[in-house]
Amino acid sequence: MKQLEERILAEGNAVSNEVLKVDGFINHQVDASLMREIGKDIAAHFKDRGITKIVTIESSGIAPALMTAEEMGLPMIILKKAPSKVLNEHLAHTVVVSYTKGTSYDLTLNSDFINENDHVLIVDDFLANGEAATGALRLLRSVHATIAGISVLIEKSFQPGRSKLEAQGVEVYSLARISKLDKGVVEFIQE
Ligand code: G4P
Repeated sequence: MKQLEERILAEGNAVSNEVLKVDGFINHQVDASLMREIGKDIAAHFKDRGITKIVTIESSGIAPALMTAEEMGLPMIILKKAPSKVLNEHLAHTVVVSYTKGTSYDLTLNSDFINENDHVLIVDDFLANGEAATGALRLLRSVHATIAGISVLIEKSFQPGRSKLEAQGVEVYSLARISKLDKGVVEFIQE
């Protein structure tokens, strides 16, 4: 998506050969009108696929997932990272290890909201090592939902996320695919 690539070039900050900061429009301050355009783009790509729910992982995926859900007229479900303090027997959970942040967390889903009748599109901000997305797939499959695909705003194509997901038979649709990152350098895969 040209608009997103231009924004990354103008305002993104490549702090190393691995990490791109986009705090000014995605991760901390959020550009709502950019998110609306992103939602339209993702919805157009996945239209007429029988999708019933949009799923995201808190927190930065929420804005683009909500805009996609609104555009497609579907509900959005947030996979939560903090365990619920209220006892809930319908909670499915899985552990996700983040290589980028060096942490691990419990990802949870209330199975009241997704079941075997659902065909789900996952929307998230970054695809790096694919661990968060793989955790989301595990959770969704544990409640017998089927997966329409995964859409991310920024794919770091030099990291193994895409190939990990494709190896599981999942379509990956990325709005910006970064082939190279270095201090002050961002290059995209041209498609
Ligand atoms: P993975 O999910 O693809 O395996 O990536 P990983 O576990 O390594 O990433 C964990 C967290 O780091 C995710 O955020 C992901 O969005 C974020 N991340 C990965 N690479 C980058 C990057 O280059 N720049 C930025 N800004 N973030 C990156 P999270 O823990 O889910 O946090 P949140 O922002 O969604 O709350």
